[in-house]
Amino acid sequence: MEAMKICCIGAGYVGGPTMAMIAHKCSDIEVTVVDLNEARIAAWNSGDLPVYEPGLEEIVSQNREKNLFFSTDVDDKVREADVIFISVNTPTKDYGSGSGQAADLRFVESCARGIARAGGGDKIVVEKSTVPVRTAQMVKEILDSSNNGHSYQVISNPEFLAEGTAMTDLENPDRVLIGGDTSDAGQVAVEKVVSIYAQWVPRERIITTNLWSSELSKLTANAFLAQRISSINAISALCEASEANVDEVAKAIGTDSRIGPKFLKSSIGFGGSCFQKDVLNLCYLCRHFDLPQVAEYWEQVIRMNEYQKERFVTRLLDSMFNTVSGKRIAILGYAFKKDTNDARESPAIGICTRLLEEKANLAIYDPRVTKQSILSTLGWSEESAKGRVEFCTSAEEACQKSHAIALLTEWDEFKELDYTKIYEKMHQPAILFDGRNLLDLEELRKIGYRANGIGRV
Ligand code: NAD
Ligand code: UGA
Repeated sequence: MEAMKICCIGAGYVGGPTMAMIAHKCSDIEVTVVDLNEARIAAWNSGDLPVYEPGLEEIVSQNREKNLFFSTDVDDKVREADVIFISVNTPTKDYGSGSGQAADLRFVESCARGIARAGGGDKIVVEKSTVPVRTAQMVKEILDSSNNGHSYQVISNPEFLAEGTAMTDLENPDRVLIGGDTSDAGQVAVEKVVSIYAQWVPRERIITTNLWSSELSKLTANAFLAQRISSINAISALCEASEANVDEVAKAIGTDSRIGPKFLKSSIGFGGSCFQKDVLNLCYLCRHFDLPQVAEYWEQVIRMNEYQKERFVTRLLDSMFNTVSGKRIAILGYAFKKDTNDARESPAIGICTRLLEEKANLAIYDPRVTKQSILSTLGWSEESAKGRVEFCTSAEEACQKSHAIALLTEWDEFKELDYTKIYEKMHQPAILFDGRNLLDLEELRKIGYRANGIGRV
């Protein structure tokens, strides 16, 4: 029997790592990741991968050109494959009907049309992208309307990896979710996709459902996770007003096994390319199905997140006599979380934009986010940034002569800095961290930072 061939359309933060793991675990499967973006594919084929994830580089370099390939030859690779994963971006629509809430499915639709056009025999088409419930119906209609004589089964297999821990999440997932049509042919396709993951994931962790449950479970999982963060952030505001300590409250409630300890870290708000877009999409779907009360319930998760980000800026301003004009603010961390080079929807974008509006000068340092990515997310050019935004190559450099430090991403290396020494080289300092009050050195030390002296920072 010939080896199974997989083609994944979309070489992004999901397509790249996910396919690298499948190739790594299934030496009998040939995996090709395709993308229209030539620079991205060239980077996947180089020593400088476009995605930073701990452990990714090792797995790519071990398997690339053996059973893992990256190519821009979309049509040919699709034609040759038995199983095609669609792993393209599904951003919030920013035009026309549903603008600002609905998912923009044009990339998914274009993949479906491309698959139908490519022909090459019967195929299993797997939705890996996060999509609104019932998208599989659209994909199936497009595939079937091609009348090319081939039959298609559409499967939903949403991805639950988190950036920064993608490789361990993929290697040891809490569950793999596979939804398919309840017909006999649909179930055969489900089993074929199950057989891929079953090469390394225990069978009891592979959940199979109908198509719509699988699609909706992905949006629901992200909405529940985002809701937990907004809930603890809401309580952080009350803690600051009442002298309760939000970490202590989180620990106290998290020991209740019904609540659980994870995802209770109060922050400057959640970021990343998915939480906001997926909650907005859920709200859009609720309105589409005429459930306005349900939509309003979830919309509050986003409102609370906005409030938390603005609250951070307000407190920073308050603590600096309401003006940061001409003051140097060290921005430590720009990625939306540690261990990733991804700055999409990072809370740092809004915070830096607000500080620039207040005429602060920023000295930004992030271990992995590139200068280009910072400039493009801020909407500034290299020219306009001159004199206002400095790109530093170390945290110490950013902090020198700064009036304040805004710790925006919890990179481990920031914990290791000697804040006592940094303090000595600062201007008129104030340290803020993760949606909390001003911290002094002693408080910093208590939450795991290297700071020996005692006194107001
Ligand atoms: P991404 O933007 O990093 O990558 C998507 C890639 O698809 C891009 O490189 C783009 O060029 C390519 N593409 C778009 N249309 C194409 C086409 N017609 N043909 C070939 N290539 C095409 O996106 P991502 O972060 O990998 O997310 C992909 C999907 O996975 C989204 O639906 C997202 O919601 C979901 N998801 C993301 C994460 C995450 O952590 N980033 C986790 C779980 C699920
Ligand atoms: C999230 C989910 O965790 C994944 O399961 C999902 O697959 C993915 O979205 C997706 O669909 O894209 P990700 O956004 O990569 O993963 O990272 P998270 O660890 O969830 O962090 C998201 C944001 O929440 C970050 O800004 C983080 O700082 C913030 N966060 C997280 C908190 O503020 N507090 C917490 O306790 C946890």
